[in-house]
Amino acid sequence: MKVLSILNEKGGVGKSFIATQFAYFCRYKLGNRVLVIDLDQQGNSGDILSASGLCQASSVYSGEIMKEGRTIEPTSEFLVIKGDDSLLELSDVGDDGIVTYNLSVAITNVQNDFDICIIDCPPSADVRQFAALSVATDYLVPFQVKAESIAGVDKTLSRATVIKDSINPDLNFLGLLMSLVRMQGIQKSNYEALLKTMGHILLKRYDPKTKTESGVCCITDRSEYAAAQQMKRPVFFSENGQTRKEALEVARVWITLIHQLGLPIKKPIKIEKDPQTGKLREVSTPIEQAKPTASAEENVQEQVTNA
Ligand SMILES: Nc1ncnc2c1ncn2[C@@H]1O[C@H](COP(=O)(O)OP(=O)(O)OP(=O)(O)O)[C@@H](O)[C@H]1O
Ligand SMILES: [Mg+2]
Repeated sequence: MKVLSILNEKGGVGKSFIATQFAYFCRYKLGNRVLVIDLDQQGNSGDILSASGLCQASSVYSGEIMKEGRTIEPTSEFLVIKGDDSLLELSDVGDDGIVTYNLSVAITNVQNDFDICIIDCPPSADVRQFAALSVATDYLVPFQVKAESIAGVDKTLSRATVIKDSINPDLNFLGLLMSLVRMQGIQKSNYEALLKTMGHILLKRYDPKTKTESGVCCITDRSEYAAAQQMKRPVFFSENGQTRKEALEVARVWITLIHQLGLPIKKPIKIEKDPQTGKLREVSTPIEQAKPTASAEENVQEQVTNA
């Protein structure tokens, strides 16, 4: 099981958007078994996923796991561990090592039950960030192309380097992911400056057709993405079955992450709206088979159009 931690101590940079939408994509386009752990007491990703109708909320909360050493029951192939207020009491434990150990044990116990565990971190540099980096196989740092957001990235990266050097030598940095991008005005000149100084650590875009990396990944600021989050649905789901161009755009980022993480590509799972509850649900029959001529990753890209 891959463990992807999404962190940046700066708030509002798109961490929870990436955690929830990448989780939906891995579940429904890759057919993966997906666990999401929300380490934020604000509970954004936990609330969105559990209210979507698609993802089951675990009876145990992330604060209980870290504080009391409770374990995760793998009761669904798409499961979220919600955040709770006891996350704010972790300092009472008085030992960051125990808190981290508790999270590590809980995740290790379910490592054969899921293909990926996505950890959504809070906008703070406390023990939760330390623990998320200590238990992760990979981490991703979303940021906005704004001066204050870029400044925060340095601190996050140096903390991650310390953890890699001291505790988690196999920790892999996927890159910096530009989020909420509006490529105009000050953001455009910041971006050009950024390419010179930090270009080498920006997440490169992977093209499954040419099997090469070209350009950098970015997630544009789009009202469709905010709407999908508010309506607690995957960006790629549309009731009339028409493909959203925004879904295709952001799928390029997800395909890059899938490639970098080496996730298994299984059968996609169709979803539909339950006419009675108005919530989404999984449909048990698989949708169209992968075309034998294209690579698995190319098929994933095509399946976005068949949401
Ligand atoms: N690419 C995007 N385009 C438009 N809106 C977005 C995008 N990404 C995120 N949002 C919206 O911006 C707000 C902040 O995003 P999000 O909650 O993902 O950030 P965060 O880094 O998790 O914040 P926090 O640090 O407070 O947890 C949310 O309302 C979200 O729906
Ligand atoms: Mg968040």
